[in-house]
Amino acid sequence: MTLNTKFSIITMLMLVIGLGAVFGIFWNGIRENAKTEVIQEARLIAAEAVAVRTYTFNEIRPLLAAQSQNRFLPHTIPAFAAATTQRDLGKSFPGYSYKEAALNPTNPANRATPEEKEIIDSFRNGTAKGDTVISTRDTPQGPLLYVARPIKIGNQDCLTCHSTPAAAPPSMIDIYGPDHGFGWNMNEIIGAQIVTVPLQVPLDRARAAFTKLGGGILLIVIFVAVLVHQLIHFLVVSPVRKMTDLANDIGAGSLAGGEFPAKGHDEMSELARAFNRMRRQFVGGEEVPKEG
Ligand code: HEC
Repeated sequence: MTLNTKFSIITMLMLVIGLGAVFGIFWNGIRENAKTEVIQEARLIAAEAVAVRTYTFNEIRPLLAAQSQNRFLPHTIPAFAAATTQRDLGKSFPGYSYKEAALNPTNPANRATPEEKEIIDSFRNGTAKGDTVISTRDTPQGPLLYVARPIKIGNQDCLTCHSTPAAAPPSMIDIYGPDHGFGWNMNEIIGAQIVTVPLQVPLDRARAAFTKLGGGILLIVIFVAVLVHQLIHFLVVSPVRKMTDLANDIGAGSLAGGEFPAKGHDEMSELARAFNRMRRQFVGGEEVPKEG
């Protein structure tokens, strides 16, 4: 096997292993980054909904207290305000959604699906780690990321409408009925805020960035590999071949090839000088002047 072939095989092996490892780490990092970005987006949506809830409860409800005596105004309900302000989210940003899912909801539209019930149960029985559950699910629209946080009754005021039908405003019962959304207790986790965010978009973005940067790195590495290959050929392989031919000629008794050109001070030039000294001794046996 020639030196060139050996260098080529070793270079190729190193490139495949090295680049494989680098690209693997790079791709994982870029994917994780995309996921972190999406989780951050979901947290922002959830925090915004909480802000709307608090605003409605603290600012709007007292203002409309008098009007609410005559007719029930869902506009004063924190959950209604949050759901209404977030409802258009999916229209402008497909795949995004916000839901306050409850096991026993006042509004049947908020009833937890079996998957959501599982998450709420994990908050209720303490099997959820921390106060946020993050999961992904594959859907026909692409992978979705779910970020869920528990909804706990932390205010006695909430129980006005969610403890017993008798305690709730009759006008509310007229609209929502007396059969659901009651029996909640102080400090009980009754549901979860569930924000859904599409993972496909940031994943596509990550893939595009990976292809661009990875392609660039690959091109540079191939360019450098070809350059090194050519340099090795020019500086090592080609002189060694010529020297071999000369040595073969001398061995066969022909001195027509002359001396080997020895310029510079690298190892190949030293070898060429040593070769030339050996050739002269072989030719005349006389002392050879030192070259430099
Ligand atoms: C004046 C009555 C009233 C008060 C006070 C009230 N709620 Fe509600 N709540 C409702 C009504 C009515 C709905 C259904 C709104 C809708 O149409 O989506 C609701 C919905 C909810 C929902 C969504 C699930 C469901 O039951 O449909 C949650 C969660 C919730 N409320 C929690 C709370 C919390 C927590 C508080 C206290 C900070 C609170 N509520 C205070 C009347 C009330």
